[in-house]
Amino acid sequence: MRFHVADHPLVAHKLTTLRDQATDSPTFRRLADELVTLLAYEATRDVRVDTVTVSTPVGTAEGVKLAAPKPLVVPILRAGLGMLDGMMRLLPTAEVGFLGMVRNEETLQASTYAERLPDDLSGRQCYVLDPMLATGGTLAAAIRFLVERGADHITAICLLSAPEGCARLERELEGLDVPVSVVTAGMDQRLDERGYIVPGLGDAGDRLYGVVG
Ligand code: URA
Repeated sequence: MRFHVADHPLVAHKLTTLRDQATDSPTFRRLADELVTLLAYEATRDVRVDTVTVSTPVGTAEGVKLAAPKPLVVPILRAGLGMLDGMMRLLPTAEVGFLGMVRNEETLQASTYAERLPDDLSGRQCYVLDPMLATGGTLAAAIRFLVERGADHITAICLLSAPEGCARLERELEGLDVPVSVVTAGMDQRLDERGYIVPGLGDAGDRLYGVVG
């Protein structure tokens, strides 16, 4: 498994404002969107392409086009939705599938409550959007779900990650016969007793969309 922490001053700048508890929801949504586009540039480094030749006004040029089947972008509901536009800006021809996963706040176990994905993901590259890699339970379950459907290349994009979540991901996905990468804007110190990333940015879903009862 490959973990890549994006090292770029613009990434750090946007992440710092996201962390700030004084940042309001509209600003948080805009910055999350911009940050994902920057992360998407790194995350799509391995996107599959075919070589093509095009005619320019003055000759021919060798180049590449995205290969078929199209990549699949999978935001994990609800907070992953706040990352979708930023990803699609860079990969506008990708298809989108949805996975609703919820974490039981007492057991910290993840379960699937909604799913809208192709039945057969054979040969598909999947980009999973999950803002907070905290305990790693949700992301591990989502990746397993996609691989069981046939996905053969997975890249997760996370705004923030915790070492505990990365370790769990490595543990739970050990032996998986599919390459998995995580691209993140920051690796924080630890989790607190509620499974929140410290110092983190709080509840990503609440900060994007407000608190629902
Ligand atoms: N989910 C969040 O939204 N924030 C955290 O810190 C951990 C999980």
